[in-house]
Amino acid sequence: MKTKILVTGGLGFIGSHTVVALQEKGYDVVIIDNLSNSDISVLEGITKITGVRPEFEAIDLRDKAKVIDFFNRHSDIKGIIHFAASKAVGESVQKPLLYYENNINTLIYLLQQMQDKEIRNFIFSSSCTVYGEPDSLPITEAAPIKPALSPYGNTKQIGEEIIRDTAKAYPEFNSIALRYFNPIGAHPTAYIGELPLGVPQNLIPFVTQTAAGIRQELSVFGDDYPTPDGTAIRDYIHVVDLAESHVVALERLLNNRQKANFEVFNIGTGRGSSVMEIIKSFEKVNGLKLNYKIVGRREGDVTSVWADTSLAEKELGWKARLSMEDALRDAWHWQQKISK
Ligand code: UD1
Repeated sequence: MKTKILVTGGLGFIGSHTVVALQEKGYDVVIIDNLSNSDISVLEGITKITGVRPEFEAIDLRDKAKVIDFFNRHSDIKGIIHFAASKAVGESVQKPLLYYENNINTLIYLLQQMQDKEIRNFIFSSSCTVYGEPDSLPITEAAPIKPALSPYGNTKQIGEEIIRDTAKAYPEFNSIALRYFNPIGAHPTAYIGELPLGVPQNLIPFVTQTAAGIRQELSVFGDDYPTPDGTAIRDYIHVVDLAESHVVALERLLNNRQKANFEVFNIGTGRGSSVMEIIKSFEKVNGLKLNYKIVGRREGDVTSVWADTSLAEKELGWKARLSMEDALRDAWHWQQKISK
């Protein structure tokens, strides 16, 4: 019998790539997604890549009665990977209550159902945003959590606290929070990728849409940071590598290899790239020129962020294999496909 895993938000950017990785490893996947920031066509993309159509239910996790009904009908779930959440930093400042409802209520309902149905294994999507402006680089998991700069960031901090308290109260509950650095790229087949709604807020979708002529020009937010070229530095990780980290984390839970029943891992490449480096690499690997201009800094942005990934390497046996150049090439192939 195959092991059945629930992936919430499984039609989203990271979720869909993780569903592919799980199915390629022989897991049975059931997806819950409310389609608020994803498209049903992603199911076809996953099916094309893996040859398997995952089970899918269009459920909004804020609807507690529907969540209870779902778990009553799926008694064989062995683990949950929880992606479903809102993630736009700016929107979260405008609509904080929506963010707390979407990201916190849904987490609580899932954890309650796990208690009720004795489902033991839980993986949570956290973010390097919990570190704020770091005191030293690279950032280890022991770095202090800084006051959140946005309601979105706060939901990730609160989410981790809720899981930590749950793990303390219920020793049989096993959980891992993965703190993602900046996920980019697309599946190399270009059957799935990132589908931003409206004007992209993140760098890479804005870059690819500019290259495709959908946006006139990319704005580089600040060239007066204390970095070698003056632009801000991030740790960009290929979404396929990131997806893989969920499978190894899940297997640590399923095989009872944890050192504690709540663990936290940084998931990045360990290397930082500046905005200018990204622009230059994108131009080089794809053989084109990008229209860009330097503008002022974006409020809330930090200077430099990159991960110390040695804990994930030691404990999970995981490290990123793909390069930033691979990700920029795959992101561009995907953009060309969807803008046709
Ligand atoms: C952002 C969020 C972070 C979230 C992550 C999700 C903020 C402050 N942080 O991270 O909490 O977890 O997305 O993926 O929004 N840039 C430009 N021009 C653009 C867009 C971005 O120069 O049009 C620059 C930014 O200033 C930054 C870098 O590119 O230096 C990366 O930006 P982005 O992709 O938005 O990611 P983060 O801000 O690192």
